[in-house]
Amino acid sequence: MTDEPTSFAFTAENLQKAKAVIAKYPAGRQQSAVMPLLDLAQRQMAGPKNGGWLPRVAMDYVAEMLEMPPIRVYEVATFYTMYNLKPVGKHHVQVCTTTPCWLRGSDDVVSACKKSLGIGFGEMTADGQFTLSEVECLGACVNAPMVQVNDDYYEDLDAASTEKLIEALKRGEKPKPGPQNGRKTSEPQGGATTLKEVA
Ligand code: FES
Repeated sequence: MTDEPTSFAFTAENLQKAKAVIAKYPAGRQQSAVMPLLDLAQRQMAGPKNGGWLPRVAMDYVAEMLEMPPIRVYEVATFYTMYNLKPVGKHHVQVCTTTPCWLRGSDDVVSACKKSLGIGFGEMTADGQFTLSEVECLGACVNAPMVQVNDDYYEDLDAASTEKLIEALKRGEKPKPGPQNGRKTSEPQGGATTLKEVA
């Protein structure tokens, strides 16, 4: 387990990125940059063997940069599951179990993840490679059920394709994101049925 760091500052490169984000907002509205800055801080905390996360010092750093009370930053960071408040594995497997995914079989996806990884929700594998999380709707219901692994969406899953995905990740491969059942984007399973002619 990573020790809680006692200090945090953006790297020179990330500081430039942070300034560019803040500059997108009108003067006095710099607090609107809180989400992208937290994301930037989280990514900076990622290492070769672990995913990014947000220690308290990083949230305080962002609060100071945006001249916000720290509690306002904690409120944002604790509300969204995209922010990790403790270290996560190199592969952060986030399974959506909200109603559309549940109706389409997310229970099977959850079981497959738990079986392949040998851990439950909120846990990390002993080798630090995987963290498993349960999340609410990730906005890909049209391709339910789905999981997010780091920045990628894997969709149209069932138990077998979920296990296949996890095993590939364990081997260090990076399976192609998107539908895992041969479907093209969110077209009907058998291919497009309308708007097939070129206007
Ligand atoms: S319910 Fe799972 S992506 Fe929306």
